[in-house]
Amino acid sequence: SKGGSGRSGRSAFVVVANRLPVDRVDTPDGSTQWRRSPGGLVTALDPVMKANKGAWIGWAGSTDEAPEPFDEAGMHLVPVPLSAKEVEEYYEGFSNATLWPLYHDVIAPPVYRREWWEAYVKVNRRFAEAAAETADDGALVWVHDYQLQLVPEMLRALRPDLRIGYFLHIPLPPVELFARLPWRQQILRGLLGADLVGFQRPGAASNFLRLTRRLLGYQTQRDQTFLPDGRVVRARSFPISIDVAQLEEIARRPETQRRAEEIREEIGSPAKVLLGIDRLDYTKGIGERIHAFAELLTDGDVTPDEATFIQVATPSRERVEQYKLLRDEVELAVGRVNGTHGRIGRPAVTYLHSNHDREELAALYRAADVMVVTPLRDGMNLVAKEYIACRYDNTGALLLSEFAGAADEFRQAFLVNPYDVDGLKTTLVDALRLDPRNATRRMRSMRRHLVEHDVDRWASSFLSALTGELRT
Ligand code: ADP
Ligand code: F6P
Repeated sequence: SKGGSGRSGRSAFVVVANRLPVDRVDTPDGSTQWRRSPGGLVTALDPVMKANKGAWIGWAGSTDEAPEPFDEAGMHLVPVPLSAKEVEEYYEGFSNATLWPLYHDVIAPPVYRREWWEAYVKVNRRFAEAAAETADDGALVWVHDYQLQLVPEMLRALRPDLRIGYFLHIPLPPVELFARLPWRQQILRGLLGADLVGFQRPGAASNFLRLTRRLLGYQTQRDQTFLPDGRVVRARSFPISIDVAQLEEIARRPETQRRAEEIREEIGSPAKVLLGIDRLDYTKGIGERIHAFAELLTDGDVTPDEATFIQVATPSRERVEQYKLLRDEVELAVGRVNGTHGRIGRPAVTYLHSNHDREELAALYRAADVMVVTPLRDGMNLVAKEYIACRYDNTGALLLSEFAGAADEFRQAFLVNPYDVDGLKTTLVDALRLDPRNATRRMRSMRRHLVEHDVDRWASSFLSALTGELRT
């Protein structure tokens, strides 16, 4: 802490997120080890963590007994335990069957259950208490995402000395949808416990300001909300990004290039490769893109020798009903298109339901002529940024939904409305037949923007908006 008068062993910088930034590895000798997860957030925060004795509070991802706080990869990690029932009610229930669909335009119907809300309150309180015990006097605490929207208010009540920032990684819907939430005022009050509330897009920040006026009756001016107790809360957009240099370095390795060539050969050396990489989530528009591609094959606008689709779908939230239904839908669509247009050893769509390391993902990005990113709604979409990062030679085309946050930044992409089947088909053909000079011009401009706006810049602009004093 700055003055050195701090509570001993406590941290001047604390991150609170649903998940810890480490993955558990069970070794053959029966012991447990932790490996830093590959995520961009933890990389971005690394320098701030190291300079400020940073701590990270989060769930270890299982219902086993939570380990005691431990130090790993230069961070102090504080595991928050969740029982099997809490995983069901707080994580799968309220977070992923109530908030997730509501915040993503109600693409799937949100389920409102009072016992899920109660579990959400209880678990948020547990995270807030862990943060209150970990933070040093006057520390800076950064709370993340929709699973923990009540933490800012709870933490402020426990520790009024702290400076609190909050960032929502997913969209914030307009009042017309948000108002359906039976606990809408509690959620807004929870967020208003922060000094600064960050969003991916400017539109979400305006939604927030309008929500505080309409649902709580507070005054707002520009990016500020005025609370009855005299506090002022700011709301602004800070579009998140990726570690561009790190991914580009992997993409440039000769072995990555060899693997990319091998992938193309393994799928039958088509003239063009289309690629989708997503968590298997109904917000991602996976079915929409497969249907559009299948129609192009059926119409004869594209032949199977001309183009092959690779769709990688990461297993996600597999016990939530809507995710089970989606998996069946996507797998039925893939089976249909392959049954109709595939040949022996040559599927029209190569579909993988699995996790892959960064090296394999980079090789896939290098192998793809057209990256197909068609979410029906997405906070940002980092996959689009990862593709651009890997195209260091300014080749390739990005097809991008206008409903992804990334569309604000990449006007040179092939922007589409994924609900418009004909528009999607025409744009797929345009992207497939793009001439190299045009491709270079578009990609160069997108890369110029991305290189300037990496995840370090995101973290430092949020943190300096929160306080000019933090050492980085
Ligand atoms: P979301 O946060 O909704 O999952 P994003 O596109 O913003 O969507 O981020 C997804 C992240 O997960 C990216 O960093 C991407 O590389 C990674 N990812 C996606 N699919 C896989 C996979 N099959 N294996 C490993 N990582 C994946
Ligand atoms: O950005 C949205 C988000 O829910 C993150 O909070 C989360 O880490 C990621 O997507 C993956 O989802 P989950 O943690 O539910 O597996």
